[in-house]
Amino acid sequence: MKIETRKEFPDFVAFVSEVDLKKDLQENQIKEIDDAINKFSVLVFRDQDINDDEQVRFTKYFGEIEASGNKSNITKAKDRRLSTDLADVSNLDKNNKPFTKDDPRRIFNLGNRLWHTDSSFKEIPAKYSLLSARNISKEGGNTEFADMRSAYDNLDAKTKQKVEDMVCEHSLIYSRQRLGFDMTRELSSEEIKNFTPVEQPLVRTNKLTNRKTIFLSSHIGKIRDWIRPDSMCFIDDLIEYATQSKFKYVHQWSQYDLIIWDNRQTMHRARAFDDLKENRDMRRTTVLGEEKLL
Ligand code: OGA
Ligand code: MN
Repeated sequence: MKIETRKEFPDFVAFVSEVDLKKDLQENQIKEIDDAINKFSVLVFRDQDINDDEQVRFTKYFGEIEASGNKSNITKAKDRRLSTDLADVSNLDKNNKPFTKDDPRRIFNLGNRLWHTDSSFKEIPAKYSLLSARNISKEGGNTEFADMRSAYDNLDAKTKQKVEDMVCEHSLIYSRQRLGFDMTRELSSEEIKNFTPVEQPLVRTNKLTNRKTIFLSSHIGKIRDWIRPDSMCFIDDLIEYATQSKFKYVHQWSQYDLIIWDNRQTMHRARAFDDLKENRDMRRTTVLGEEKLL
């Protein structure tokens, strides 16, 4: 296995080759990959033409799978295109046709265009995400990643002190509200309970590397003991700061790329493409976090 970085980011984003994800991996290979995720936060594997079962098997080397269900999207079980081991990050319905303009599932999925970390709205947020590009768009559809360790390191001392003990409320309701999609109107009072906000610390430490990160996400709608408008202004400023180009890697997909990212130390977002016409078939498996953070 070969693990290479680029000059511009010596400790962020590594390119992994000479490994075949269709095959069983050895303990030492799994450890090498896991260590690299902790160290580089984003790993890019090219030319991995895997199927869903192979993706699931590879994911399980790193922990338990976080199921994709009614706590992370609004698609009904009967309308799913993929098994609940996979999050369907495509723009496709179960007949592999693009969602139409006003389809609530399409509008909900547009939330991925906002900077976020996966499942920060769950009590135990996601650890790693693995995204496999089965079919890509001809134009657009990049994914961008921002390094929340460098963003933390570069904060001025006063801001570091200010954020040190901050606690934020995360919910899909908040991120979708930013798009003008009001989940409290779209869903029944029973369904909306799945999206009750949860609190998370704004600063985390990676136990293996001891590096601190800012645990930011567009799912944040409120800071504990703050009013919402002040919270939004503060969080939006911080997201703008943390996603400057010096902290950011832009990935232009090729078919069969697979990317693993560490949700504890990065944010990411999808970029626009002609989603009413093109088929962008992206499938994500997610490694469950190990513990509650508060
Ligand atoms: C995700 C996600 C971005 C993309 O899979 O969690 O946000 O570019 N994807 O599809
Ligand atoms: Mn995501």
